Amino acid sequence: MAALYKKDHGWLCSLLPFFLLLLVVIRLQVVIGDVTDGSSEHMKREHSLIKPYQGVGSSSMPLWDFGGSTILTSQYVRLTPDERSREGSIWNRASCLLKDWELHVQFHIHGGGKKNLHGDGIALWYTRDRLSPGPVFGSKDKFHGLAIFLDTYPNDETTERVFPYISVMVNNGSMEYEHGKDGRSVELAGCTADLRNQKHDTFLAVRYSRGRLTVMTDIEDKNEWKNCIDISGVRLPTGYFFGASAATGDLSDNHDIISMKLFQLMVEHTPEEENIDWTKIEPSVNLLKSPKDNVDDPTGNFRNGPLTGWKIFLLLLCALLGIIVCAVVGAVVFQKRKEKNKRFY
Ligand SMILES: *[C@@H]1O[C@H](CO)[C@@H](O)[C@H](O)[C@H]1NC(C)=O
Repeated sequence: MAALYKKDHGWLCSLLPFFLLLLVVIRLQVVIGDVTDGSSEHMKREHSLIKPYQGVGSSSMPLWDFGGSTILTSQYVRLTPDERSREGSIWNRASCLLKDWELHVQFHIHGGGKKNLHGDGIALWYTRDRLSPGPVFGSKDKFHGLAIFLDTYPNDETTERVFPYISVMVNNGSMEYEHGKDGRSVELAGCTADLRNQKHDTFLAVRYSRGRLTVMTDIEDKNEWKNCIDISGVRLPTGYFFGASAATGDLSDNHDIISMKLFQLMVEHTPEEENIDWTKIEPSVNLLKSPKDNVDDPTGNFRNGPLTGWKIFLLLLCALLGIIVCAVVGAVVFQKRKEKNKRFY
């Protein structure tokens, strides 16, 4: 009888820490899996570019500035026409103070060039400086912040990579984008995406939340997001600007932006996270694995950067609770056995 009693509780006792761990994991997933449904409720008008573009035909477009070859029509913002050596950009005027956001971009890259005789592509930016022309898809090199490149032309002829190719880069102003290598040495992750000359609408989504950066595409006319990039440990400040730029060289394309919609993500932050000055964060990436490993990992869910203070606290608390419960049950069992032993002998 005593043996059975003990066995029962030993079984429960060994399961308890797993159960508690499961609770923690579920809790983490709730925080991580906060996906926006794209409802306009949390769309930030001041950071969004939508039809009909305000101030079309006049020089005043209060929320956005544009430079270079960019022209506005009622249906699209054309960063470059399908002509050689053009570059254009469009930049949000208001700096973004949101810690967690998701950007949806509808774009259209199209032109008369045959396979691999078109270029160069579009870059989407979240950077400290705005409206500064340069050699990286029409914008400045050695930038501070985040870039997503929709690269339609392989400059590196030795590459086995299939283009168009989407890649991301985080820069603190120190790194140069190497055009001849299509930025391969500085990219964090990327994917091939057949995003050019499509007859249907093409979209890209960038989500940044709690250090996790996700890029998704909707380019197959299926009305669903497909994962392209998912990396953790990305640190970006608030107070930077959203923008888009494009460039053509010897080869060209029309690079059109139809819309850019910014959504606020409702995400909890710990008091420590709230207390730091987010405008002072240096753009950086703390990769736990090699960047390439991130691309093929289909789950990606638990790769959420280093444990933050409250997660460690929760884990320790659970472990402590587990130990206490085990100790109490053990003591009770021991006591019962002692009593039984007394009676039987
Ligand atoms: C910028 O990044 C480079 C390379 O990752 C690093 O060596 C350097 O310390 C960083 N600078 C700052 C100011 O964070």
